[in-house]
Amino acid sequence: MANRKIVATKLRANDLILCSSNENLMAKEENSGKILPESRTDKKYNEARRTFLKQSSLLTALALAPPAVVKAAEAGLDEKVADQFEKVPLSLEINGELKKLSVEPRTTLLDLLREQLDLTGTKKGCDYGQCGACTVHADGQRINSCLSLTVMQEGKKITTIEGLATGDELHPMQAAFIEYDGFQCGYCTPGQIMSGVACIREGHANSESEIREYMSGNICRCGAYPNIIKAITAVKKGGKKV
Ligand code: FES
Ligand code: FES
Repeated sequence: MANRKIVATKLRANDLILCSSNENLMAKEENSGKILPESRTDKKYNEARRTFLKQSSLLTALALAPPAVVKAAEAGLDEKVADQFEKVPLSLEINGELKKLSVEPRTTLLDLLREQLDLTGTKKGCDYGQCGACTVHADGQRINSCLSLTVMQEGKKITTIEGLATGDELHPMQAAFIEYDGFQCGYCTPGQIMSGVACIREGHANSESEIREYMSGNICRCGAYPNIIKAITAVKKGGKKV
């Protein structure tokens, strides 16, 4: 702050020195007879003088402006104002509950679920649409929530792993994954279960090879594939509504 004041004072002092030396020079030139009185009204001369005065005023203004700007930035005002302008209001039904939200247009559905709504059952694996750990249902269709902007889901019904069970009763696919030991570390499991349910609903669970193909977007680093397939097959054969 002190430095800025010194700079501003110096700039103002310089302006005064320059202005007065300019005036002195003109007076000296007049006295010495180098400049005739009418040359002082010369157009070019006056234009140059006006330009000089404008530039020195601008420099002074610039030297004085930063403290106010810096103060606003320090208080985070710029970000708060930007936040309000940037956020978009929207409503979504998440696990049967209507949510009125305000989100930045760049927010992915995955980040909204995990960071704004604390629904951390949906996992972030790659964040590039390659692992399937973030699979959720939007109006019954499975999607990679890391690839979907929240604003694109306006008005839709989103179901996450937290919304699959009915009260204390597990969804048949959740129960089957436990029964058939369809996981090891469990990181990919919410995505596998959401995809497994969709796979049956889509009519793509009629054979082991079909399940493998339609579950190929869900990667399991632990290699629990054989048991995942057993669990999905059992649910399909069990005939329960999924
Ligand atoms: S986190 Fe979305 S596909 Fe991997
Ligand atoms: S159970 Fe560990 S990644 Fe699938």
